[in-house]
Amino acid sequence: MKFLITGANGQLGRCLADRLSHSDHTFVALTKSDLDITDEKAVEELVVECRPDVIVNTAAFTSVDRAESEPELARCINGEAVSYLVKAANKVGALLIQVSTDYVFDGASPKPYVESDAVNPLGVYGQTKLLGEEYAARADRFLIVRTAWVFSEYGHNFVKTMLKLGRERKELSIVSDQYGSPTYAGDLAANLIRMSEAQLPSGIYHFSGGKSCSWFEFAKAIFDVVKAYVPGYPVPGMLPISTEQYPTPAKRPLFSVLSDRKLKTALGTNVTDWSAALPAVIAKLIDVT
Ligand SMILES: NC(=O)c1ccc[n+]([C@@H]2O[C@H](COP(=O)([O-])OP(=O)(O)OC[C@H]3O[C@@H](n4cnc5c(N)ncnc54)[C@H](OP(=O)(O)O)[C@@H]3O)[C@@H](O)[C@H]2O)c1
Repeated sequence: MKFLITGANGQLGRCLADRLSHSDHTFVALTKSDLDITDEKAVEELVVECRPDVIVNTAAFTSVDRAESEPELARCINGEAVSYLVKAANKVGALLIQVSTDYVFDGASPKPYVESDAVNPLGVYGQTKLLGEEYAARADRFLIVRTAWVFSEYGHNFVKTMLKLGRERKELSIVSDQYGSPTYAGDLAANLIRMSEAQLPSGIYHFSGGKSCSWFEFAKAIFDVVKAYVPGYPVPGMLPISTEQYPTPAKRPLFSVLSDRKLKTALGTNVTDWSAALPAVIAKLIDVT
């Protein structure tokens, strides 16, 4: 199959290109400077020229807090641009994979969210990603894949931030009352390829990295790996704090754990485990020489 990746310089875009380059598939990886997905004409021209079997839209306005002050831009990238990809995908008969987020939920559920649960985003980022889902569902063939708390060896993410702050500060205060599902972008990328190969029915699917945790527990897991594998690397003290003690421009769900039972049943695969991916990611992020 031929894949077209948008937003190819992001965490997922880069992991997807890595995995596709070790597969039997071909791909075209387009960064924002190759293709701005908010340019309707350019989207159509490039898709028609490439004639991909699968378009994976990893491009997004991902700054949750900045979206509160730039709602129009966030809506344009996360929402309207998806309608351009839908039109182009339909034109060439391609499958559209739209990557979405746990932040479409309000976090009030007592149990992991399934695909059919009611959505109620708390902030602009989640609202605009939900608009993107609504557009994606108009494609002739689509997979909307909600994921969460994405980390990798690339781009900006919580693991990288923790390592940086760990070098700069003696003690870190970390939110301990928001729960989610960390997800290694490489595992997500591998699953998106499998989902395309399996020709799953159009619909919404959840994919996350397995066991849930709080940001505090995630940070603890990061520094446990650092302690075990990188002797001498600075490890700060950690203080659990509440969401109230760490105000941010965007309100976040307190519990946005995703159930990925539907996808596992559809693919017949086992649970992935973000903590298994963590040491290799940290090794790549830390200069151990
Ligand atoms: N990161 C998370 O924790 C998380 C959680 C849940 C869901 N998701 C979803 O997962 C997907 C992948 O996330 P990620 O972490 O890989 O994001 P990322 O690292 O922020 O990458 C997004 C990429 O999209 C590019 N982009 C922005 N505007 C664009 C435009 N108009 N046209 C083309 N490209 C554009 C960005 O380029 P610039 O950097 O140059 O702007 C960036 O390279 C997104 O759909 C995101 O909403 C992410």
